Amino acid sequence: MDKTTISKTTKTITVTIFLMACFTIYMYYDSTKNLFSKFTGAHVQINNISTKNCLSFLKMHNYECTSNITLDKHLIATSKEQEEPDTILLIWMWPFGTSFGLRPCSSAFKIHGCHLTNDRGLFNQAHGVMFHHRDISGDLSNMPQLPRPALQKWVWWNMESPTNTNPIPLLNDLFNLTSSYRWDSDIPVPYGRITERTEEEKKYTIPKKDKLVCWIVSHYSPDLKRSHYYTELVKFINVSTYGRHFNNPVNDKEYSNIVSSCKFYLSFENSIHRDYVTEKLFNALAIGAVPVVIGPPRENYELFIPSKAFIHVDDFPSPKELADHLTLLDQNEELYMQYFTWRERFVSKRTSFGLEHACWICDHIRRNKHYKVVKDLRSWFWG
Ligand SMILES: *[C@@H]1O[C@H](CO)[C@@H](O)[C@H](O)[C@H]1NC(C)=O
Ligand SMILES: *[C@@H]1O[C@H](CO)[C@@H](O)[C@H](O)[C@H]1NC(C)=O
Ligand SMILES: *[C@@H]1O[C@H](CO)[C@@H](O)[C@H](O)[C@H]1NC(C)=O
Ligand SMILES: *[C@@H]1O[C@H](CO)[C@@H](O)[C@H](O)[C@H]1NC(C)=O
Repeated sequence: MDKTTISKTTKTITVTIFLMACFTIYMYYDSTKNLFSKFTGAHVQINNISTKNCLSFLKMHNYECTSNITLDKHLIATSKEQEEPDTILLIWMWPFGTSFGLRPCSSAFKIHGCHLTNDRGLFNQAHGVMFHHRDISGDLSNMPQLPRPALQKWVWWNMESPTNTNPIPLLNDLFNLTSSYRWDSDIPVPYGRITERTEEEKKYTIPKKDKLVCWIVSHYSPDLKRSHYYTELVKFINVSTYGRHFNNPVNDKEYSNIVSSCKFYLSFENSIHRDYVTEKLFNALAIGAVPVVIGPPRENYELFIPSKAFIHVDDFPSPKELADHLTLLDQNEELYMQYFTWRERFVSKRTSFGLEHACWICDHIRRNKHYKVVKDLRSWFWG
């Protein structure tokens, strides 16, 4: 090695050391910057930290605790940035082609962090996409044709029973989540719920009654179990009938008045399936008529509503015995009142079709980030 080579090598080493030093200093500076921004972020969240935690946190950073922290614009922006961004749920098609109107889930159901949209331009940003079964075309030609973003979840949504749902062969291995009235869906959303009565909800009073048994039916088909049962039942008790089938159509306004004026309401489902208990049940409960039900077995109903809130046709060997029981309750006020005891503590709430489903679906996607595939929708739902 001659002298010039040695000096060249020395130069190279010096420059390298210099660059490394610069890099280290830069990294250090950067990390303190990060630390600082993290700290300002935490500052904003003090309101949410209990006083005790707040104290130890602030002592660590030589600050003092005050219960009133003024949030200036800069700090609010910092806190917003650090919050998890809203989960976007894209409603790909309106159910039955009818918009249900988008309102914030936070004001409607106190579900936070959700952004619902029907803007297909947001497809690539959407965390979830919701598809209504009835509106999916058999060849899937109205499904998204773009490649699906890796983390996006597709949700199969359907509130009809298998009897009234056409199977589409191509749906296996396509969706990530299911949402329906069934408890074993990923996002079960029943047609209604019994919830605790809050302070604001007034004490329940039974509406005035001038009819015994009522039934409103628009789609009548003589082959259904409910039609057979009705034909037998009317031989023993008077039933006030309404709806298109009886040439006595009822509009939304009249509906509540009619149902509330009946002691009993025939909440007869059009088909019998596990968990398939519909608005026919929850409407009667909400309005204040005692539901007489045809549907899945009593035990299944009792997963949704209190056992003393309804009468199941299976509780009686035949329609005649049911008619006798209803007649007895008509004559004995005290016995009839027992069907209203649950209302001292609870209220019946109807699910708001579409909006409420979308909000619960979005909430689920927000909370559950794991990989999931619906392998065999066909045998799960129709099997
Ligand atoms: C923090 O406080 C806000 C407003 O009071 C509230 O909406 C939020 O749920 C709280 N967060 C936590 C984690 O407690
Ligand atoms: C916090 O601020 C409110 C209104 O700005 C005031 O009424 C309250 O007395 C303050 N509390 C404390 C502990 O300073
Ligand atoms: C139904 O009501 C009519 C008159 O309102 C009455 O004549 C008839 O006996 C009643 N039928 C039954 C089965 O109670
Ligand atoms: C959703 O399901 C599809 C179809 O099986 C699958 O390719 C995709 O990886 C799944 N995505 C998530 C986030 O689970």
